[in-house]
Amino acid sequence: MIDIHCHILPALDDGAGNMSDAIEMAQLAVSSGIKGIIATPHCNIPGSFRNYWSLSLEDDVRALKQELEKRNIELSIYHGQEVFLAAGFLEMLHQGKLITLNDSRYMLVEFDMNERADVAYRKLQQILAEGCIPIVAHPERYGFVNEQSEAVYRMKDLGALLQINRGSIKGAFGRRVMKKSMEILSSYQADFIATDAHSQFSRTPQLADVHEFISEEISTDYGDVLVNVNPRKVLNDEKIYSF
Ligand SMILES: [Fe+2]
Repeated sequence: MIDIHCHILPALDDGAGNMSDAIEMAQLAVSSGIKGIIATPHCNIPGSFRNYWSLSLEDDVRALKQELEKRNIELSIYHGQEVFLAAGFLEMLHQGKLITLNDSRYMLVEFDMNERADVAYRKLQQILAEGCIPIVAHPERYGFVNEQSEAVYRMKDLGALLQINRGSIKGAFGRRVMKKSMEILSSYQADFIATDAHSQFSRTPQLADVHEFISEEISTDYGDVLVNVNPRKVLNDEKIYSF
């Protein structure tokens, strides 16, 4: 399995606080059958985490890889960002400050929880017009997705992809989000499940339990597509598999 959304890089955002936290997260991931993690620090959040692409961000990725190698922890780390689609994000994209997942065509994006639906759709269209395919992080958590039943289909019709959080399925964000995540999954509109892990204690980097759950509750093939097949297609910059 490959985790395409994880805040494992130390001391950059509200994820791993330091290198030893990151190592513990990596060990947990490996014990859950995860072979690779795309490190996706929060990026472009106004007044908060910026984490624009820079050589120092690359150094942070390299430092984690070296620590894992030193400890013989068999986990591949790739670079990425979780890009907050604040006003003005296009300018940041044009300036080369935003990166895709492992230099693929796929960009992990998030909205303000109270984003307006029409604004969200317009931002997704703007990214697509730049030749990137947006992967919407945790759609099940946004207000507009919960309030408008057509929102999931609108985003998919535009060409966006959807990534459900492991925690949402397990009820970590409340009943409404749990229900919405299962609705998206059981209608086969989700393209990925990822951990969105922030620490080794809560919101942890594990996928085996949700993989098993989806395999049993919906379909074995779909479970594999969500945590293994499609994440690997992102790593290889290939067209993802639609169920
Ligand atoms: Fe995240």
